[in-house]
Amino acid sequence: MILVFGRTGQVATELQRLGDVTALGRDQADLADPGACAEAIRTRQPRVVINAAAYTAVDRAEDEEPLATTINGASPAAMARACAAIGTPLVHISTDYVFDGSGTRPWSPDDPTRPINAYGRSKLAGETGIRAAGGSHAILRTSWVFSAHGNNFVKTMLRLGKDCDRLSIVADQVGGPTSAAAIARVCLTVAEALCLHPDRTGTYHLSGGPDVSWADFARAVFARTGRTPEVADIPSSAYPTPAARPHNSRLDNTALTRAFNLGRPDWQADLDEVLRDLDRL
Ligand SMILES: NC(=O)c1ccc[n+]([C@@H]2O[C@H](COP(=O)([O-])OP(=O)(O)OC[C@H]3O[C@@H](n4cnc5c(N)ncnc54)[C@H](OP(=O)(O)O)[C@@H]3O)[C@@H](O)[C@H]2O)c1
Repeated sequence: MILVFGRTGQVATELQRLGDVTALGRDQADLADPGACAEAIRTRQPRVVINAAAYTAVDRAEDEEPLATTINGASPAAMARACAAIGTPLVHISTDYVFDGSGTRPWSPDDPTRPINAYGRSKLAGETGIRAAGGSHAILRTSWVFSAHGNNFVKTMLRLGKDCDRLSIVADQVGGPTSAAAIARVCLTVAEALCLHPDRTGTYHLSGGPDVSWADFARAVFARTGRTPEVADIPSSAYPTPAARPHNSRLDNTALTRAFNLGRPDWQADLDEVLRDLDRL
């Protein structure tokens, strides 16, 4: 059995569409309770575990760091210890926000981490706890997730684009938009590979290519829809948020390609697919 933590989120939804998985919602395993997460693994004895649940409210985390740290740090660590105890591999999703966003070079998995907000610190705590558990695992750091489900930048742009002729969008943050479906596909492939090759344990980067600014990503969304509001580039300083965001979110995917023979997802093709999905909904 492939056990997935998370049921309603973007990646969890795609995992259920793509794979034969058992997905646990908050009612069955609350990540605010690390013991309950470990117990869910002990009682089910899965072949592999994928953690697609997380505290993802980046701005709210500034006011709720202890809760975010339990959900994103202590619970993944408890899952990893429970997995290690029964020899089950764990695939865990992390984030570009573990980096400080300096420079313009794509981050490699072994570059030094230095989160600049509470959410990033909480996700880094999860990574550290998983490695400390000593079991077979893959930590997949991804960025800028979008899908037809849940809340994300693409859906926000489609909503705002209906009523506005002009939008000001941040242009000094650059990264790789990544579809939840692409993440789910990689999670399932990596999970199967880890069952056969536990020595491929490690931290990997997975982001859609090519890298782009939020403003250019918005233009790509509008270019595919009937309405094309004018998009004006603005700096992050003109759009203050409670949590600081990294400017450079470029992720180097080479390690993932080498270990699992997986190419970098093409976010433009995946965006077309998500827009088709939204039409069908
Ligand atoms: N979204 C992004 O742009 C982004 C970027 C980089 C990395 N990531 C990482 O990618 C992964 C998947 O993100 P996503 O975009 O799919 O997230 P999402 O759509 O925000 O979904 C988060 C999921 O976590 C669940 N969850 C939250 N708190 C929980 C709790 N206490 N107990 C049990 N479940 C809980 C939610 O359940 P409810 O529906 O019950 O709240 C939801 O199913 C996460 O690890 C995230 O950190 C995301």
